[in-house]
Amino acid sequence: MTKPSVQMTRPIEESMVAAMFDRISGRYDFLNRLLSARQDVRWRNILISMVPTKKNGRFLDMATGTGDVLLAAAKAHPEYAEFIGGDISKGMLSFAERKSGEAGLTSRIHWAVMSAETIPEKAESIDCASISFGLRNVVNKEKALSEFARILKPKGVFLILEFFTPTSGLMSKVFQFYFHNILPRIGSLFSEKEAYTYLPKSVASFYSPSELRDSLRSKGFVVEKEINFLFGACRLVKSRKA
Ligand SMILES: C[S@@+](CC[C@H](N)C(=O)[O-])C[C@H]1O[C@@H](n2cnc3c(N)ncnc32)[C@H](O)[C@@H]1O
Repeated sequence: MTKPSVQMTRPIEESMVAAMFDRISGRYDFLNRLLSARQDVRWRNILISMVPTKKNGRFLDMATGTGDVLLAAAKAHPEYAEFIGGDISKGMLSFAERKSGEAGLTSRIHWAVMSAETIPEKAESIDCASISFGLRNVVNKEKALSEFARILKPKGVFLILEFFTPTSGLMSKVFQFYFHNILPRIGSLFSEKEAYTYLPKSVASFYSPSELRDSLRSKGFVVEKEINFLFGACRLVKSRKA
């Protein structure tokens, strides 16, 4: 039997996604900075600025990867009691764990292998949840959004940072060209080619901004703020459980 190709078309198995991120974990941070010209750091910082102050709060960053959002949140919010970083890729989490040790940020942080589709947290137990550049990779996104709605406390904040397909204007064409032609080439120079050809495909099969808004509303969220970066190619969506 031939091995399934990582040239992915939907639907794909979660285990294949995890295996792909395991393989690229060592180069992930370096390529993120390079391919976004460090804009990813700025976008994540803006996300962190939307995390509410909450004494003894519990924060969950799902699809945490190498942990950048969780570590920045833990630094910015000493009043929280607990920070949980969940991901399906053990490889990505091992880098997250190493980074939290180097930053001396281990006491309130837990890293755990878990899927956004079945979050092992009690209902209404989390004050703020985030997912950055992760929702697009989740196989059953609707199930994941329902899980976020379940685990968040009433009025809890949900932050999504994600790539979208920009639809109009010259810059959107320039971006599409970069995303489909240049980015996979740079990615393949330093890492696994399939992962960086998968990236634009996963964006193309993701929600449009209005589809995501509708889906969030259908799960009981109120969308409070949306910020466009890169002419709409990247968006930060802040919603709150009603
Ligand atoms: C592009 S990385 C984003 C990592 C990090 N959040 C960031 O901002 O750099 C996507 C991450 O989503 C994780 N992932 C994919 N599907 C997942 C799922 N169903 N549940 C949890 N994590 C998932 C992958 O393992 C990977 O670490």
